[in-house]
Amino acid sequence: MIKIAPSLLSCDFSRFGEEVVRMANSGADMMHLDVMDGHFVPNITFGAPIIESLRKYTKLPFDVHLMISEPLRFIADFAKAGADIITFNIEADSPVVETIAAIRAAGCSASLCVKPATPVEELFPFLDLIDMVLIMTVEPGFGGQPFMPETLGKIERLRMACKRRGLKMDIEVDGGIAKSTIALAAKAGANTFVAGSAVFGPPDAKAAIEHLRHLATAATPEN
Ligand code: DX5
Ligand code: ZN
Repeated sequence: MIKIAPSLLSCDFSRFGEEVVRMANSGADMMHLDVMDGHFVPNITFGAPIIESLRKYTKLPFDVHLMISEPLRFIADFAKAGADIITFNIEADSPVVETIAAIRAAGCSASLCVKPATPVEELFPFLDLIDMVLIMTVEPGFGGQPFMPETLGKIERLRMACKRRGLKMDIEVDGGIAKSTIALAAKAGANTFVAGSAVFGPPDAKAAIEHLRHLATAATPEN
């Protein structure tokens, strides 16, 4: 199933709650919330209290993308704030299995992320333990960067590995997803698409989401 997750990083932060409602009314499947600590990535965004304050604006899942050095320390906070899916990086400083276990113990879906330069094979030992993989298709830290086509092979190899193991994994891509790139990622095996500038840039977010969904659906191998 194709899922479109608007990245609120590109929204008008002075109207954060209204932007969540606007995305929900525009056909979003979930809200993608980018948490950056200025250490794991060279930028700072927002943390659990802001996410908690947004929770009342929609019942749609909160897809919380942690770009922080020590995710394990903060899992309980983000779960309590209303996260449904929690993603952390394999390159971060927390033990992977323990962090996955903490996410699950907190009642959330667990997701592991790789930066563009990290081989996707590093995730393979953990595939049975998680619900989603996030393949970064730009260097994490900022919205509005161009898609890196060299990440497509990683998506393909991951989808093949999941098929071989009989795993119905959600494969999410994040960074530079737009009308010109979403089909490439879908064809490679992604089914969950984060889009910031491609959704918040155009005046009509509903039309933008519909168009992205249509392009992804048409390019998905099963269809
Ligand atoms: C980047 C973030 C992305 C970003 C995507 O580190 O994880 O979610 O906001 O923005 P676009 O779609 O504009 O590349
Ligand atoms: Zn993100």
